[in-house]
Amino acid sequence: MRRKLVAGNWKMHKTVAEAVALVNELKKELADVTDVDVVVAPVFTALAAVAKAIDGTPLGLAAQNCYPEVTGAFTGEVSPTLLKDVGCRYVIVGHSERRRIFQEADDFINRKVRAVTAEGLQAILCVGETLEERDAGKTFDILAAQIENSLRGISAATMERVIIAYEPVWAIGTGKTATACQAQEAHRFLRELLRKMHGVATAAAIRILYGGSVKADNAAALLSQEDIDGALVGGASLMAADFTPIVKQGRN
Ligand code: 13P
Repeated sequence: MRRKLVAGNWKMHKTVAEAVALVNELKKELADVTDVDVVVAPVFTALAAVAKAIDGTPLGLAAQNCYPEVTGAFTGEVSPTLLKDVGCRYVIVGHSERRRIFQEADDFINRKVRAVTAEGLQAILCVGETLEERDAGKTFDILAAQIENSLRGISAATMERVIIAYEPVWAIGTGKTATACQAQEAHRFLRELLRKMHGVATAAAIRILYGGSVKADNAAALLSQEDIDGALVGGASLMAADFTPIVKQGRN
């Protein structure tokens, strides 16, 4: 049975003090939750302070992005090596905001998946279609291309360090959630695709998270679907009162 994972992507929000205050609240509110992996992804500037605040707790630390080199002349960038050094265990790659605003393409995202996993960290690889693509009936083609290209050259063994997040672009920050049925359909498609690429064992073990306007009142329906193994939460991860009930609905 796959263990559920609920991650909060804080995007470009929270000062260091605010970030530490939020994880301190989460530590208290989630003290009795031992059957769900809980991960927070603060901005780069808050990573060190949050790492210190969650040291010795089951909370996991993620970065929201990385640059796929170890060190070097890459002004303004941060490598998986440096993220590991600060205490990260996960790195989100290929988020739709990075694809859209920063023109990140699948081959660049593929380099990030390789760099993150080479460092022994878990890559949370985001995929998802736009509304235009869904309306044109291209959802599965888009998902297949994103997965195949972003995971090119990744072995079945390395797939143990990959988590997929299905985030339909039209559901991010819009208040429009995919119905549990629509999300399950996409997740099933992704798992079947991964089975074809990497075999039954990898497909059965990999966690596929759903992201896009996840809230306390829709989390239960989404998280109870057979192929939905957790959530990547944006807006509703910024306050403990919103995030905590989502995590609790991930309990078995
Ligand atoms: P919202 O939950 O705000 O829709 O954001 C989803 C997301 O992009 C998480 O990575």
